[in-house]
Amino acid sequence: MKFFIDTANLQQIREAHELGILDGVTTNPSLMAKEGISGKDRVLKHYVDICEIVDNGDVSAEVIATDLDGIIREGEELASLHPNIVVKVPMIKEGLKAIRYFSDKGIRTNCTLIFSAGQALLAAKAGAGYVSPFVGRLDDVSTDGLQLIEQIRLIYDNYGYDTEILAASIRHPMHIVNCAEIGADVVTAPLSAITALLNHPLTDNGLSQFLADHRKSTELAK
Ligand code: E4P
Repeated sequence: MKFFIDTANLQQIREAHELGILDGVTTNPSLMAKEGISGKDRVLKHYVDICEIVDNGDVSAEVIATDLDGIIREGEELASLHPNIVVKVPMIKEGLKAIRYFSDKGIRTNCTLIFSAGQALLAAKAGAGYVSPFVGRLDDVSTDGLQLIEQIRLIYDNYGYDTEILAASIRHPMHIVNCAEIGADVVTAPLSAITALLNHPLTDNGLSQFLADHRKSTELAK
């Protein structure tokens, strides 16, 4: 399973990259705003900065337009920034048409704001490279977000769609583990959820014991 980090924060992207497990980055307009990145030139430069940190990883950059011409214009501009840019397009009618257009032109896409299996099926039919089902936001409204990942996995496997399931809106480490069990192709998560996978109290206790025993035996040998 691929690990993406879900942030526009350069420091956190660097930190995840240094762990040696990072396969890509997802951003969205809210994440860009959170970092105070605004204005077309700054936004485009920020995407290039992100691409330069992750070198070989895909970086999702989201369009703002909601009409077909606007989505195409913005998407082509984003895609021309760097070979690793994946154009993130919302699951709306004009977005679906744009995904078909981009797919025919060889521009890679991530269809975002997926909340149902039917939406994921349409995105795959249109040629999306990735679909982003939002696990946490479904959980937030008392619906099982992970069940959606299972449904999409089944449908894509039934028909051999090669659209990758990019589980998004991940809130905690168990979401990541559960997505891996189900067979999501990618999980995009905040740094805190990724690093939380590292932790186990028995690891900490075990290491303290090993180091204490080593210290003792070294002192005895003196
Ligand atoms: C990623 O592609 C999504 O934009 C993101 O995971 C949404 O996460 P949120 O529900 O925490 O905002």
